[in-house]
Amino acid sequence: MADTRKPAQDFTLRIRRYDPESGEAPYWDEHTINLEPHRSVLEGILQARGRFDGSIGIRCSCKAAICGSCGVRVNGQAGLACHTHLDAALKSSRDGVIEVEPMGNMPIIKDLVVDMDAVHWKKIRRVTPWLLAQDPLPEREHIVPREAMVDVTQSMACIQCGACVSDCLSMEVDPLFVGPAALAKAYRFVGDPRDSQQFERLKDLAEDPHGMYDCTHCFKCIEACPKGVAPMNQIMRLRRRAGGDHHIEDRNNGFNHEHAFVKNIRRNGLLHENDLLTDSFGGKASPKAAMFLAKSLPVITRALLRRKATLKVALGHPHKAPKDVKRIFDVVEGRPERYDLNLYITGYDEEQSGAEEPNVGAIAGGGEDGQAIPSAPGASPKGAS
Ligand code: SF4
Ligand code: SF4
Ligand code: FES
Repeated sequence: MADTRKPAQDFTLRIRRYDPESGEAPYWDEHTINLEPHRSVLEGILQARGRFDGSIGIRCSCKAAICGSCGVRVNGQAGLACHTHLDAALKSSRDGVIEVEPMGNMPIIKDLVVDMDAVHWKKIRRVTPWLLAQDPLPEREHIVPREAMVDVTQSMACIQCGACVSDCLSMEVDPLFVGPAALAKAYRFVGDPRDSQQFERLKDLAEDPHGMYDCTHCFKCIEACPKGVAPMNQIMRLRRRAGGDHHIEDRNNGFNHEHAFVKNIRRNGLLHENDLLTDSFGGKASPKAAMFLAKSLPVITRALLRRKATLKVALGHPHKAPKDVKRIFDVVEGRPERYDLNLYITGYDEEQSGAEEPNVGAIAGGGEDGQAIPSAPGASPKGAS
């Protein structure tokens, strides 16, 4: 087979340098390295360190997207340095120079090395990241439905690199937010039928003002994750389990706020934000809603003055949901079981000979007993590369 690899060429790396102990301000450092385009940004950094400046701080181990050590930002996007090809990084650069910075939302130890212990691992510990087994233990082994394991496979693929934590917008605003990696880890046990504390875990994370309802669905963690864990989707699963299966009405009003969105779309077809606040607190006649409305008056007045909202829009209902929207709601809500698509699981069912349709693991979220409902026979995990 012909060797299609391209010959080595020059790439310029612009590396963010900072040593907090030196007392000096951060600065950018440029080095031109020479490597084949399919080689990784990590190899580029290591070459720069070996040839030009042995003091460049970078953490790495496996060089194969397995250990999770080499998380950095390349051209502003968090990911693994060993999993980012130089040619791809060049394409996404602003000015032909590949910019490498330390990950965000974590303190810098030196250059590209951040303090994972201070943020990432602290948050992982917060969610009790181990199985709390039932008592008494079964005499022999636990018999776990295959589908239940398929349901947690996606969260199990996490390599704890911290890329999602780095780019989480909620965490930027609220550093106490439990965060995408830790919440994905929490789902790994909430979705495991062998765990005995599923309700307690859900209640804890629903009631925590920095817990599952602190996520704003910005998708940044999904974009950043090199392993397809899609932490935001795991957070949505936690919410469906907490609200849909266990009916946990949390003190942060997260449960009611979510239901206000559903009500809003069912009624208007499009989001009518002015109703959200009152609906989230029990409707216009509720004293709680009146209190929050009064509290929000300065914001509403500012929006009116700046013409970001008009009185007509604020008081009226500009849209009425078309019949099709109502029909979709009726179909979805009329289903006897809830289905959560787990798109991480793909492949062909070997048992169904000649199967032509790819087997996408549509995994039911489970009922009151937390048991997942089968729907993906023969599913195979998409390998973490
Ligand atoms: S989707 Fe949620 S958890 Fe993910 S980055 Fe955005 S705010 Fe953070
Ligand atoms: S969820 Fe993805 S991005 Fe976040 S720590 Fe795990 S592997 Fe890294
Ligand atoms: S060096 Fe192990 S993941 Fe990059």
